Amino acid sequence: MQPFAETQLTEAVLARLAGCKDERMKQVMASLIGHLHQFVRDVKLTEKEWSQGIEYLTATGKMCDEKRQEYVLLSDVLGVSMLVDTIHHANPGGATESTVLGPFFVHGAPEVPHGGDISAGLAGEPTWISGRVLDTQGAPIADASLDVWLVRPDAKYDVQDPGAGMQLRGRLRTDAQGRYAVRALKPVSYPVPTGGPVGRVLDHMGRHPMRPAHVHFIVTAPGYEQLVTHLFARGDAYLDSDVVFGVKDSLVVAFEPMSDAQAEAVGMPKGSLHVDFDFHLAAVDPTRKGRAALPAVEASADPS
Ligand SMILES: [Fe+2]
Repeated sequence: MQPFAETQLTEAVLARLAGCKDERMKQVMASLIGHLHQFVRDVKLTEKEWSQGIEYLTATGKMCDEKRQEYVLLSDVLGVSMLVDTIHHANPGGATESTVLGPFFVHGAPEVPHGGDISAGLAGEPTWISGRVLDTQGAPIADASLDVWLVRPDAKYDVQDPGAGMQLRGRLRTDAQGRYAVRALKPVSYPVPTGGPVGRVLDHMGRHPMRPAHVHFIVTAPGYEQLVTHLFARGDAYLDSDVVFGVKDSLVVAFEPMSDAQAEAVGMPKGSLHVDFDFHLAAVDPTRKGRAALPAVEASADPS
Protein backbone atom coordinates (compact mmCIF):
# COMPACT_ATOMS: atom_id res chain seq x y z
CA MET A 1 0.00 0.00 0.00
CA GLN A 2 1.31 3.44 -0.94
CA PRO A 3 1.82 6.01 1.84
CA PHE A 4 -0.79 8.75 1.84
CA ALA A 5 0.08 12.22 0.63
CA GLU A 6 -0.72 15.00 3.12
CA THR A 7 -4.20 15.83 1.89
CA GLN A 8 -5.02 12.24 0.95
CA LEU A 9 -4.47 11.29 4.56
CA THR A 10 -7.08 13.79 5.69
CA GLU A 11 -9.54 12.44 3.14
CA ALA A 12 -8.84 8.87 4.28
CA VAL A 13 -9.55 9.74 7.92
CA LEU A 14 -12.73 11.57 6.97
CA ALA A 15 -13.86 8.62 4.86
CA ARG A 16 -13.79 6.41 7.97
CA LEU A 17 -16.72 8.43 9.31
CA ALA A 18 -18.97 6.85 6.70
CA GLY A 19 -20.34 4.37 9.21
CA CYS A 20 -21.09 6.93 11.90
CA LYS A 21 -24.83 6.79 12.65
CA ASP A 22 -24.92 9.94 14.76
CA GLU A 23 -25.18 12.85 12.30
CA ARG A 24 -24.11 15.49 14.81
CA MET A 25 -21.12 13.38 15.86
CA LYS A 26 -20.21 12.98 12.22
CA GLN A 27 -20.43 16.72 11.60
CA VAL A 28 -18.38 17.62 14.68
CA MET A 29 -15.67 15.02 14.08
CA ALA A 30 -15.36 15.83 10.36
CA SER A 31 -14.83 19.49 11.18
CA LEU A 32 -12.47 18.74 14.04
CA ILE A 33 -10.34 16.36 11.96
CA GLY A 34 -10.28 18.76 9.01
CA HIS A 35 -9.22 21.76 11.12
CA LEU A 36 -6.72 19.75 13.14
CA HIS A 37 -5.03 18.42 10.02
CA GLN A 38 -4.99 21.88 8.46
CA PHE A 39 -3.42 23.29 11.62
CA VAL A 40 -0.66 20.65 11.49
CA ARG A 41 -0.01 21.48 7.83
CA ASP A 42 -0.12 25.26 8.43
CA VAL A 43 2.52 25.29 11.14
CA LYS A 44 4.37 22.22 9.86
CA LEU A 45 4.19 20.78 13.34
CA THR A 46 7.47 19.07 14.25
CA GLU A 47 7.61 15.70 15.97
CA LYS A 48 9.07 17.40 19.02
CA GLU A 49 6.20 19.90 19.11
CA TRP A 50 3.67 17.09 18.67
CA SER A 51 5.23 15.32 21.62
CA GLN A 52 5.22 18.51 23.67
CA GLY A 53 1.55 18.99 22.84
CA ILE A 54 0.70 15.49 24.06
CA GLU A 55 2.68 16.08 27.25
CA TYR A 56 0.92 19.42 27.74
CA LEU A 57 -2.57 17.95 27.42
CA THR A 58 -1.60 15.09 29.73
CA ALA A 59 -0.34 17.54 32.35
CA THR A 60 -3.54 19.59 32.00
CA GLY A 61 -5.66 16.50 32.63
CA LYS A 62 -3.59 15.51 35.63
CA MET A 63 -4.20 18.97 37.12
CA CYS A 64 -7.97 18.41 37.14
CA ASP A 65 -9.73 17.08 40.20
CA GLU A 66 -12.92 17.81 42.10
CA LYS A 67 -11.60 21.22 43.15
CA ARG A 68 -9.75 22.42 40.09
CA GLN A 69 -10.73 22.31 36.42
CA GLU A 70 -7.61 23.15 34.41
CA TYR A 71 -9.34 22.31 31.11
CA VAL A 72 -12.10 24.86 31.80
CA LEU A 73 -9.35 27.37 32.52
CA LEU A 74 -7.49 26.46 29.32
CA SER A 75 -10.71 26.88 27.35
CA ASP A 76 -11.26 30.24 29.07
CA VAL A 77 -7.83 31.73 28.33
CA LEU A 78 -7.97 30.59 24.70
CA GLY A 79 -11.31 32.37 24.30
CA VAL A 80 -13.21 29.15 23.54
CA SER A 81 -15.55 29.44 26.51
CA MET A 82 -16.59 32.96 25.50
CA LEU A 83 -16.97 31.91 21.86
CA VAL A 84 -19.40 29.13 22.85
CA ASP A 85 -21.23 31.56 25.12
CA THR A 86 -21.42 34.22 22.41
CA ILE A 87 -22.78 31.82 19.81
CA HIS A 88 -25.51 30.41 22.04
CA HIS A 89 -26.48 33.40 24.18
CA ALA A 90 -27.21 36.16 21.72
CA ASN A 91 -29.09 38.11 24.38
CA PRO A 92 -32.62 37.79 23.07
CA GLY A 93 -34.85 40.73 23.75
CA GLY A 94 -33.44 42.57 26.70
CA ALA A 95 -32.20 39.69 28.84
CA THR A 96 -29.08 40.31 30.93
CA GLU A 97 -25.95 39.26 29.06
CA SER A 98 -24.09 36.13 30.07
CA THR A 99 -20.40 35.44 30.45
CA VAL A 100 -18.09 32.58 31.40
CA LEU A 101 -18.76 30.27 34.33
CA GLY A 102 -15.09 30.14 35.31
CA PRO A 103 -13.40 27.31 37.18
CA PHE A 104 -14.46 28.21 40.74
CA PHE A 105 -18.17 27.47 40.81
CA VAL A 106 -19.04 25.04 43.59
CA HIS A 107 -22.26 23.06 43.79
CA GLY A 108 -24.06 23.09 47.12
CA ALA A 109 -23.19 26.56 48.43
CA PRO A 110 -25.09 27.36 51.65
CA GLU A 111 -28.54 28.96 51.50
CA VAL A 112 -28.32 32.58 52.63
CA PRO A 113 -31.32 34.55 53.91
CA HIS A 114 -32.30 37.88 52.31
CA GLY A 115 -29.54 40.35 53.23
CA GLY A 116 -27.40 37.57 54.72
CA ASP A 117 -23.65 37.82 55.10
CA ILE A 118 -21.31 35.67 52.97
CA SER A 119 -18.10 37.48 53.91
CA ALA A 120 -17.20 34.79 56.44
CA GLY A 121 -15.52 37.29 58.75
CA LEU A 122 -12.85 38.18 56.19
CA ALA A 123 -11.39 41.70 56.24
CA GLY A 124 -12.21 43.80 53.19
CA GLU A 125 -14.53 46.54 51.96
CA PRO A 126 -18.08 45.62 53.07
CA THR A 127 -20.39 45.70 50.07
CA TRP A 128 -24.17 45.46 49.90
CA ILE A 129 -25.25 43.84 46.63
CA SER A 130 -28.94 44.10 45.87
CA GLY A 131 -31.49 44.40 43.11
CA ARG A 132 -34.26 42.42 41.53
CA VAL A 133 -34.74 39.47 39.23
CA LEU A 134 -37.18 40.41 36.47
CA ASP A 135 -38.41 39.03 33.19
CA THR A 136 -37.67 40.86 29.95
CA GLN A 137 -40.89 42.87 30.33
CA GLY A 138 -39.83 44.07 33.79
CA ALA A 139 -42.18 41.85 35.81
CA PRO A 140 -40.64 40.50 39.03
CA ILE A 141 -39.75 36.82 39.30
CA ALA A 142 -40.43 35.52 42.80
CA ASP A 143 -38.43 32.67 44.33
CA ALA A 144 -35.68 32.82 41.71
CA SER A 145 -32.43 31.28 42.89
CA LEU A 146 -29.14 33.18 42.73
CA ASP A 147 -25.83 31.46 43.28
CA VAL A 148 -23.29 34.15 44.10
CA TRP A 149 -19.54 33.73 44.55
CA LEU A 150 -16.51 35.96 44.50
CA VAL A 151 -12.81 36.07 45.19
CA ARG A 152 -11.39 36.85 48.63
CA PRO A 153 -9.54 40.10 49.28
CA ASP A 154 -6.25 38.14 49.18
CA ALA A 155 -7.02 37.42 45.48
CA LYS A 156 -7.79 33.73 46.05
CA TYR A 157 -11.02 31.77 46.00
CA ASP A 158 -11.87 29.69 49.05
CA VAL A 159 -11.32 26.48 47.08
CA GLN A 160 -7.71 27.53 46.43
CA ASP A 161 -7.08 27.48 50.17
CA PRO A 162 -7.36 23.93 51.54
CA GLY A 163 -9.26 23.88 54.80
CA ALA A 164 -10.81 27.33 54.37
CA GLY A 165 -14.34 25.97 53.92
CA MET A 166 -16.94 27.97 52.01
CA GLN A 167 -16.22 31.69 51.97
CA LEU A 168 -17.83 34.42 49.88
CA ARG A 169 -20.34 32.13 48.26
CA GLY A 170 -23.98 31.37 48.88
CA ARG A 171 -27.39 30.77 47.37
CA LEU A 172 -30.08 33.44 47.65
CA ARG A 173 -33.76 33.47 46.75
CA THR A 174 -35.83 36.40 45.58
CA ASP A 175 -38.84 37.55 47.56
CA ALA A 176 -42.36 38.10 46.18
CA GLN A 177 -41.23 41.37 44.53
CA GLY A 178 -38.25 39.66 42.90
CA ARG A 179 -35.79 41.34 45.26
CA TYR A 180 -32.47 39.90 46.41
CA ALA A 181 -29.77 41.27 48.70
CA VAL A 182 -26.53 39.96 50.12
CA ARG A 183 -23.73 41.31 52.24
CA ALA A 184 -20.32 40.58 50.74
CA LEU A 185 -16.97 42.29 50.19
CA LYS A 186 -15.70 44.32 47.26
CA PRO A 187 -14.07 41.88 44.82
CA VAL A 188 -10.47 42.42 43.74
CA SER A 189 -8.75 41.75 40.43
CA TYR A 190 -6.88 38.46 40.61
CA PRO A 191 -4.67 36.16 38.56
CA VAL A 192 -6.11 32.89 37.30
CA PRO A 193 -4.14 29.97 38.77
CA THR A 194 -0.66 30.15 37.25
CA GLY A 195 0.96 27.17 38.96
CA GLY A 196 -0.10 24.70 36.27
CA PRO A 197 -0.08 24.19 32.51
CA VAL A 198 -2.34 27.21 31.82
CA GLY A 199 0.00 29.53 33.71
CA ARG A 200 2.97 28.19 31.76
CA VAL A 201 1.35 28.72 28.37
CA LEU A 202 0.18 32.24 29.28
CA ASP A 203 3.73 33.13 30.31
CA HIS A 204 5.14 31.60 27.12
CA MET A 205 2.68 33.65 25.03
CA GLY A 206 3.68 36.85 26.85
CA ARG A 207 0.23 37.34 28.38
CA HIS A 208 -0.72 38.48 31.89
CA PRO A 209 -2.99 36.18 33.92
CA MET A 210 -5.29 38.84 35.42
CA ARG A 211 -9.06 39.06 35.61
CA PRO A 212 -10.79 42.35 36.45
CA ALA A 213 -12.67 42.36 39.77
CA HIS A 214 -16.10 40.75 39.49
CA VAL A 215 -18.87 38.94 41.31
CA HIS A 216 -20.22 35.72 39.78
CA PHE A 217 -23.91 34.87 39.53
CA ILE A 218 -26.01 31.99 38.29
CA VAL A 219 -29.66 33.04 38.23
CA THR A 220 -32.23 30.28 37.85
CA ALA A 221 -36.03 30.30 37.77
CA PRO A 222 -38.48 27.74 36.37
CA GLY A 223 -39.59 28.65 32.85
CA TYR A 224 -36.60 30.94 32.21
CA GLU A 225 -33.20 30.46 30.61
CA GLN A 226 -30.54 30.01 33.23
CA LEU A 227 -28.27 33.05 33.37
CA VAL A 228 -24.54 32.59 34.08
CA THR A 229 -22.92 35.96 34.41
CA HIS A 230 -20.67 38.38 36.35
CA LEU A 231 -20.89 41.95 37.56
CA PHE A 232 -17.57 43.70 36.92
CA ALA A 233 -16.25 46.61 38.98
CA ARG A 234 -16.17 49.86 37.02
CA GLY A 235 -12.70 51.42 36.92
CA ASP A 236 -10.79 48.16 37.22
CA ALA A 237 -7.40 48.24 35.48
CA TYR A 238 -8.02 44.92 33.68
CA LEU A 239 -11.45 45.53 32.14
CA ASP A 240 -9.87 45.88 28.69
CA SER A 241 -7.57 42.89 28.97
CA ASP A 242 -9.46 40.20 30.92
CA VAL A 243 -7.40 37.03 30.49
CA VAL A 244 -10.60 35.04 29.71
CA PHE A 245 -12.23 37.70 27.45
CA GLY A 246 -15.36 37.74 29.63
CA VAL A 247 -16.12 41.47 29.95
CA LYS A 248 -19.26 42.93 28.39
CA ASP A 249 -20.04 46.62 28.82
CA SER A 250 -23.55 45.96 30.13
CA LEU A 251 -22.09 43.98 33.03
CA VAL A 252 -19.75 46.73 34.29
CA VAL A 253 -21.26 48.35 37.38
CA ALA A 254 -20.32 51.00 39.93
CA PHE A 255 -19.43 50.01 43.48
CA GLU A 256 -20.62 53.21 45.10
CA PRO A 257 -20.27 54.45 48.68
CA MET A 258 -23.44 54.14 50.75
CA SER A 259 -24.64 57.11 52.72
CA ASP A 260 -24.65 56.61 56.49
CA ALA A 261 -28.45 56.48 56.40
CA GLN A 262 -28.47 53.86 53.64
CA ALA A 263 -25.91 51.77 55.49
CA GLU A 264 -27.77 52.00 58.78
CA ALA A 265 -31.06 51.04 57.13
CA VAL A 266 -29.68 47.65 56.12
CA GLY A 267 -27.31 47.11 59.02
CA MET A 268 -24.07 47.75 57.13
CA PRO A 269 -21.09 49.53 58.71
CA LYS A 270 -20.42 53.18 57.84
CA GLY A 271 -18.32 53.58 54.70
CA SER A 272 -19.74 50.45 53.05
CA LEU A 273 -20.16 50.13 49.29
CA HIS A 274 -23.30 49.34 47.37
CA VAL A 275 -24.05 47.70 44.02
CA ASP A 276 -27.58 47.78 42.66
CA PHE A 277 -28.32 45.56 39.68
CA ASP A 278 -31.47 44.06 38.20
CA PHE A 279 -31.13 40.77 36.33
CA HIS A 280 -33.49 40.18 33.41
CA LEU A 281 -34.19 36.56 32.47
CA ALA A 282 -35.42 35.40 29.08
CA ALA A 283 -38.33 32.97 29.01
CA VAL A 284 -37.37 29.49 27.85
CA ASP A 285 -37.55 29.25 24.10
CA PRO A 286 -38.26 25.62 23.18
CA THR A 287 -36.64 26.12 19.78
CA ARG A 288 -33.28 26.96 21.36
CA LYS A 289 -31.03 24.51 23.14
CA GLY A 290 -30.54 25.57 26.74
CA ARG A 291 -27.22 25.73 28.52
CA ALA A 292 -25.77 22.33 29.24
CA ALA A 293 -25.35 21.07 32.77
CA LEU A 294 -22.63 22.99 34.53
CA PRO A 295 -19.21 21.37 34.77
CA ALA A 296 -19.17 19.81 38.18
CA VAL A 297 -16.59 21.26 40.50
CA GLU A 298 -18.03 19.46 43.47
CA ALA A 299 -15.98 20.99 46.22
CA SER A 300 -17.29 20.07 49.62
CA ALA A 301 -17.88 22.56 52.41
CA ASP A 302 -14.56 21.47 53.84
CA PRO A 303 -12.07 20.95 51.02
CA SER A 304 -9.50 19.40 53.35
FE1 LIG B 1 -14.00 34.81 39.18
